[in-house]
Amino acid sequence: MNSMEIRQKYVDFFKQRGHVQVPSSQLVLNNDPTTLFVSSGMQPLVPYLLGDSHPSGNKLVNSQICLRAQGFLDDFMEVGDNRHTTFFEMLGNWSLGSYFKQEQLAWFFEFLTAELNLNPQKLYISVFSGDTDSKIPKDIESAEIWKKLFEDKGITDVRVFYYGVKKNWWSKSGLPKDMPSGEPGGPDSEVFYDFETPHDKRFGEECHPNCDCGRFLEIGNSVFMQYVKNADGTFSNLPQKNVDFGGGLERLTAAVLNNSDIFNTDLYKPLISKISKVSGKEYIKENKPYMRVIADHLKGAVFLISNGVIPSNKMQGYVLRKYLRRSAVKMQLLCSKTLPSSDYTEIAEQVFEIYKDIPDNFGFNLHSEAKQKVSEVISEELTKFGKTIKKGLKEFNKVSPKDIDGKFAFNLFQTYGFPFEITNDLLNNKGFSLNKEEFTKEFQKHQEKS
Ligand code: SER
Repeated sequence: MNSMEIRQKYVDFFKQRGHVQVPSSQLVLNNDPTTLFVSSGMQPLVPYLLGDSHPSGNKLVNSQICLRAQGFLDDFMEVGDNRHTTFFEMLGNWSLGSYFKQEQLAWFFEFLTAELNLNPQKLYISVFSGDTDSKIPKDIESAEIWKKLFEDKGITDVRVFYYGVKKNWWSKSGLPKDMPSGEPGGPDSEVFYDFETPHDKRFGEECHPNCDCGRFLEIGNSVFMQYVKNADGTFSNLPQKNVDFGGGLERLTAAVLNNSDIFNTDLYKPLISKISKVSGKEYIKENKPYMRVIADHLKGAVFLISNGVIPSNKMQGYVLRKYLRRSAVKMQLLCSKTLPSSDYTEIAEQVFEIYKDIPDNFGFNLHSEAKQKVSEVISEELTKFGKTIKKGLKEFNKVSPKDIDGKFAFNLFQTYGFPFEITNDLLNNKGFSLNKEEFTKEFQKHQEKS
């Protein structure tokens, strides 16, 4: 089963249960100045979660393209392992005051086990343990529903785990204490797939579903969006109880393949193959992190350019610039060559191939007419940057790695457009690392000045 079939099966499954398919929003929302990109399926639906009536009814299904690059550095730094990307597709089903926990958990379990044929023995669950500060109770109801669903399959061992606000609370702004007044949020229940890779003790003595060692991968999150934050910091019930479900298509596809590397799915393979071709490097061992970053960033770049974004030094344009420049530096690190911009264009074209059969009602708007624009933008940006890479690397190589600090990294950023991570990557390759705080301090000083 490939990603195309999984996406379609999901939408059909929920349509058969009374949902109406709605298109994905574009990555940049024109009417929401609080955010650079849509980073979750719920963002474009906030007014309806708060109680407005949606023109398509109260049960919706979609696949939302998402981009998580909001943190100054962190989202970018996570890319390179087998499961993190900044761009991804989130399958979503929505109850706007219609069904709640019982239907949601049972349907998702049925979808995973009956439609995707995942072995229930490989599924683990997390639920909310409650929070005294915000007075939100423990989600015993979800835990009981899950226990029963597994028992019906003859599975009685412990596979439902309780976690607190850091893991099992969802709102656009994160923890309850960080939410602004008027924002909706709620406890959630995540499903994890067990790839059975041996536990790595660097991540803790014992492995558990939320362990970061890579054995378990979160493949779906049912948020029970039933609260709203008040101005005094307390929480009230929303006028309706909602479900906001989100499942990363890349990860669901990896689970179906029982292969924990999402870059081995059809959503990335054509990109990896092309990167391999132009760089002359195989997708193995230490090459993998570089190739994964290039694949993720060029995919994100294609969607941004198709959405009308052009490289610049601020807002969405800055992220696009960073995507392209980081790709070029990673390529340099991968194959020790400065490749012509046409090689990047060739890789980027694969993004259109990957998504070419998606019906228009999914709303991705990745039409072949955008190819020309993508190619122009990439060529212009990377031809310019190709020249500065060489100069920047020359500066970098002049100094002993032990003398390179946050201030030096900031100067490289200012003068040659080397993002922090690039200098850090270069240093990591030599067995050193940078102090992020020093760099951030310089960056802030500069921002204040300007
Ligand atoms: N909003 C939740 C998430 O992004 C579920 O869709 O994980």
